[in-house]
Amino acid sequence: MRFKMILASSVAKKIYMSIAGLVWVLFVTVHLLGNLQLLNSNPDPFNKYSYFLTEQTGEIIYVLEFLLVLFLVTHFVYAIWVQIGNWRARPQGYSMVRWAHHTSKRSIGSVTMIYTGLLILVFIVIHLINFKYGTVYTYTPYGFTHPIRNLYKTVIEFFQNPWNVAFYVVIMVLLGFHLSHAIWSSFQSLGLGSKNFTPFWYAVGVIWAIVIAVGFVFIPLWIYFTHTGGAL
Ligand code: HEM
Repeated sequence: MRFKMILASSVAKKIYMSIAGLVWVLFVTVHLLGNLQLLNSNPDPFNKYSYFLTEQTGEIIYVLEFLLVLFLVTHFVYAIWVQIGNWRARPQGYSMVRWAHHTSKRSIGSVTMIYTGLLILVFIVIHLINFKYGTVYTYTPYGFTHPIRNLYKTVIEFFQNPWNVAFYVVIMVLLGFHLSHAIWSSFQSLGLGSKNFTPFWYAVGVIWAIVIAVGFVFIPLWIYFTHTGGAL
């Protein structure tokens, strides 16, 4: 009975972590699509999009931001909890990363989850300071009669610095590793396809992770190489 309770709680933890993580995967995917407007040499579409989200959605944006923070913090707390349990159960750890077949897929992504996760958490805080709470420029875009924030200029200026570009590229690669295990593993925890390994859902998870990482790596590199020394 006690064993059953422990099992139930650990399954509950995994299911909760999966849901919270997938909410973030959804956010990051939409965020990437929105940020692709930074590739446009005209700042208006990106700035109008950002203005719409921050100024024209009323209370909705605050509710969404609150939910994102809540899911992030609880995902993190559960991850630490599960990891401590794993360390206690197997204190010596694995001496090497082996590729396991069928029901388990051990990979660099899977064994570094706790470390890449921690780095991504630290990144998010730095990232908000860089942009959301970064330098505020204003201008009046075409079709507007009042000035709005020129967030495009803040981002372009930030990625003129090669160290900032390098930092983002490294973190985005780590994000790719984290997601390459996280997405597929969440599908598995939620029972999508089968409780066991299914090549289809594994491929979906890995390809999704690669698309997100490549997309986010491309943006700073594109900005750096197309705007260096150029106009904002
Ligand atoms: C090249 C990569 C990225 C760029 C250029 C970028 C750009 C931006 C910008 C410009 C903002 C400010 C939006 C505003 O205040 O209107 C922002 C906010 C944010 N970004 Fe990113 N981002 C990148 C990657 C990421 C990644 C990988 C994550 C998550 C893992 C992330 C999470 C967030 C969050 C949580 C916010 C705050 C959203 C809000 O307050 O509503 N970003 N990002």
